[in-house]
Amino acid sequence: MAKSTLEDLLDFIRHPSISTDPSYNEAMRQCAEWLKTWFEGKKITAEIHQTAGHPVVLAETPKIAGAPTVLIYGHYDVQPVDPLELWDSHPFDPTVKDGIITARGATDNKGQIMAHMQGVAELLERGELALNVIFLIEGEEEIGSPNLTPFLEAQRDRLACDVVVVSDTGMVGPGVPTMTYGLRGVAALEVVFHGPSMDLHSGMYGGAVMNPATALARVLAKMHDDQLRVAIPGFYDEVKPLEAWEREAWAKLPVSEETYVKLSGAPALDGEAGYSAVERIAGRPTAEINGLTSGYQGVGTKTVLPSQARAKITFRLTPHQDPEKILLAAEQFFRDHASPAVTVVVERGHYAAAYYVDPHAGFAKEAQSALKSTWGREPALVREGGSIPIVQVFKDALGVETLLLGLALPDCRAHSPNETFPIENYEKGILLNQNLLQNITNATVSAG
Ligand code: BES
Ligand code: MN
Repeated sequence: MAKSTLEDLLDFIRHPSISTDPSYNEAMRQCAEWLKTWFEGKKITAEIHQTAGHPVVLAETPKIAGAPTVLIYGHYDVQPVDPLELWDSHPFDPTVKDGIITARGATDNKGQIMAHMQGVAELLERGELALNVIFLIEGEEEIGSPNLTPFLEAQRDRLACDVVVVSDTGMVGPGVPTMTYGLRGVAALEVVFHGPSMDLHSGMYGGAVMNPATALARVLAKMHDDQLRVAIPGFYDEVKPLEAWEREAWAKLPVSEETYVKLSGAPALDGEAGYSAVERIAGRPTAEINGLTSGYQGVGTKTVLPSQARAKITFRLTPHQDPEKILLAAEQFFRDHASPAVTVVVERGHYAAAYYVDPHAGFAKEAQSALKSTWGREPALVREGGSIPIVQVFKDALGVETLLLGLALPDCRAHSPNETFPIENYEKGILLNQNLLQNITNATVSAG
């Protein structure tokens, strides 16, 4: 690999493009500018589109009339880095050691989208790009892509394509090419229980005034039953049972319960009764408390009865579950079970439907053969637990399916301290891009 190919990625990573925190807005803008400049340096036209939030970068290879069009989607935003003290090096000062890049965004998603960018740029340079490529790189994936749907709808004609390609998912293991044919959806909310109008002396009022932290804890404890099933009425109404062939195929994947214990660092696993870890992650919906705050958080003690308590919650959803219905049901659940001595406020967050694509239809064959020729072995077909909010919208708004061909390893520590991406995966990603575009070109040419 040319030195500049790696240097480009490290430069991209150096932008602290944290989308959720407004104090990084300028860094977001600069990162989008950097992308535009990079594309232009490779003779790929690029535009920055302002949105109500962070800008979208749209780039297009020189038009070839009559040739198919592939839309490659990725995101330049990253998750926050905290807790900073757990990083071995600065999250935005990438280190390269033993062929591994460590930095926030290395895998999710800068390394993966950059592999496609380099792949296409090389083909173009060599005069071997025989189809049209559109890059759509957004800055709001990690906050639920709130402004991308209106953008897609407004730019529907320009974004017309035959298929979407995304590398923002996982590989089953090192060297195991993986095609993901399902993603979970997600729905976020924040619930706040308001009690007294100010924090009170817990000796003077405790016992008489309901403690909102206690009230909230009581409801949160009811959110799962003893089998660790979600106890919100109606939650499973639309959930389809796992197919026998899927359970059989997943049982054969080279991942065991032990793998998850090791990767997570948790003392043991626990989850919905009757399902394996893979099944719970890939094929079952969940309710997760992402953040829980109330009362005194400083050093030492403080005898206080807090005035409020809040929980940040997300649900991961399976195909057919309607995120809006789930949010409504959850809101009702919190109201129904709250102590009458607190005021309940539920603030809705982002939400997106799950995605499921037939792993044998459309360009799946071309994708699987590209995976196979890149890694030299048959690809694994999996569903995954994470979410990419816009993928179902590609189908609804543009009428096209998405090939999910991820390069993230199970131990990449995405969203965690010391996120990593092996240079080898970067190289393989570049090759994968080229093999795939070649296969799609051949398939469409031979189809006439
Ligand atoms: N790359 C992930 C999605 C992913 C993770 C797919 C693991 C498959 C396996 C993506 O960048 C991501 O983290 N998405 C967020 C979306 C959310 C904030 C709306 C997620 O899943 O939490
Ligand atoms: Mn992510």
